[in-house]
Amino acid sequence: MNFEIVLATNNKHKLQEVREILSPHKIIVYGLSDLNVKIKDVEENNSTYVENALAKAKAIQKITNMPIIADDSGLEISSLNHEPGVYSARYASSLGGHDQAIKEILKRLENTKNRSARFVCQIVLLNTEDKPLIFEGIAKGYIAEKIMGENGFGYDPIFIEEETNQCFGLMDKKEKNAVSHRARALKKLITYLRINGFIPL
Ligand code: IMP
Repeated sequence: MNFEIVLATNNKHKLQEVREILSPHKIIVYGLSDLNVKIKDVEENNSTYVENALAKAKAIQKITNMPIIADDSGLEISSLNHEPGVYSARYASSLGGHDQAIKEILKRLENTKNRSARFVCQIVLLNTEDKPLIFEGIAKGYIAEKIMGENGFGYDPIFIEEETNQCFGLMDKKEKNAVSHRARALKKLITYLRINGFIPL
């Protein structure tokens, strides 16, 4: 038996990434378009990842009883006071997009020795228990000296992951899915679903 879940996103890229990670575990992930649902992007106007993720998940709880997941994530740079963090998407749009945001970060880090950074992802799961459940994934690394590669999205071209010493911008999907913050949070979700009998052990 497959376990069916809805991902509260209009972002096709994210849907594909989550599907690739969950489908080997007999989890079928539906996007909002699969349910024929059109919901405006929820404003990410909160100051924590969990609040943003919860807002996205709750926006579709009215229209389905299926288990729902939603995530929120961001890039935290140590020497910039952990900016842009939960404001990562808003930081990029305020500068005209991720290309500009990347350039701005490289400029702000010029001559900075401490380039350590991390991606954080919080996933909220609704409708399996009374309370929302939260799963966190962290990818540690540092900010590159220059743009490296064109793969992925967002800040990928300047984030070098610590374990692989490779830039997300140079990784293919499989490589990124082995170490990314989102994949790490999803692995915890998979463990929860296994232990609680939603998917086979
Ligand atoms: P969201 O969780 O999709 O809302 O992500 C918020 C923002 O964090 C994105 O718009 C990107 O700026 C950044 N971000 C999150 N995950 C990644 C990633 O895997 N690579 C690059 N940037 C990311």
